[in-house]
Amino acid sequence: MEIIDSYPRFQEFRKTLPGITLVPTMGALHAGHGSLISLAKTYSDPVVVTIFVNPKQFSPNEDFDRYPRTPDEDLEICRRLNADCVWIPRVEEIYPANENVEEISAGDLGSRLEGVSRPTHFSGVLTVVNRLFNLSHPSRAIFGKKDRQQLVLVSRFVKEQGLPVEIIGGETVREPDGLALSSRNRYLSSTDRTEALVISRSLRAGRSVAERGGSASEVLRAANQEFAHSTSINPEYCELVDEDFNLIDDGFHGPAILVTAASVGTTRLLDNVDLVIA
Ligand code: PAF
Repeated sequence: MEIIDSYPRFQEFRKTLPGITLVPTMGALHAGHGSLISLAKTYSDPVVVTIFVNPKQFSPNEDFDRYPRTPDEDLEICRRLNADCVWIPRVEEIYPANENVEEISAGDLGSRLEGVSRPTHFSGVLTVVNRLFNLSHPSRAIFGKKDRQQLVLVSRFVKEQGLPVEIIGGETVREPDGLALSSRNRYLSSTDRTEALVISRSLRAGRSVAERGGSASEVLRAANQEFAHSTSINPEYCELVDEDFNLIDDGFHGPAILVTAASVGTTRLLDNVDLVIA
């Protein structure tokens, strides 16, 4: 496995290959990232994992400085899963002082749901993703479905710009008790960890109502009731959206996503499930 921390060296590596599959990450890798790397390995191109904690997607009051950084464990996971290359770009290569890196606006969808409390987040994500694509020219790139709004925004951006990159969503990996894996789970105390289970329980409750033929409002009611039973967690949002992330209501039939964000102690967690409104 190549471990590359300078762009000129990455260019040398890249120019020997017709295509690559990119797995962009911010490090602090866990089994969820591992499943994205394994999915990437099912395609024939070499797999490049990028590790870059992108300052532009954190607002000043967020956890950029204390975002977990676990370089040795990250490399170990990549090695174990046979990644072909780990590229760890330098901040001055992604955002050179003497070059105007194009800022990508996340538009209206970027300001809804996650965007309400994180108004600059998705523009920061699209800006770095576009930059990584421009510097590495991947054939395809893999993003986790756990950050579903991000996946939808990246897919939409690539389509609108006509970029020659296939965007693939990897399934969310969960602990046996339902908690979706996240790099931020390591912030949870053991009490928080137990309380956090309300999130996946609420999504499961919504999905089982959908499976029994429930309407959009019945699904939402069931999901919100789970939160209402908890004394410690209030969701920031718990909504049903269609595959383009438009809110849906009764009268909608078809594939939908139940999405939620909730703070547990000082840790903000996201989760979502796919379901079908009959
Ligand atoms: O999902 C993430 O880890 C990040 O948002 C991404 C896509 C690597 C961009 O920094």
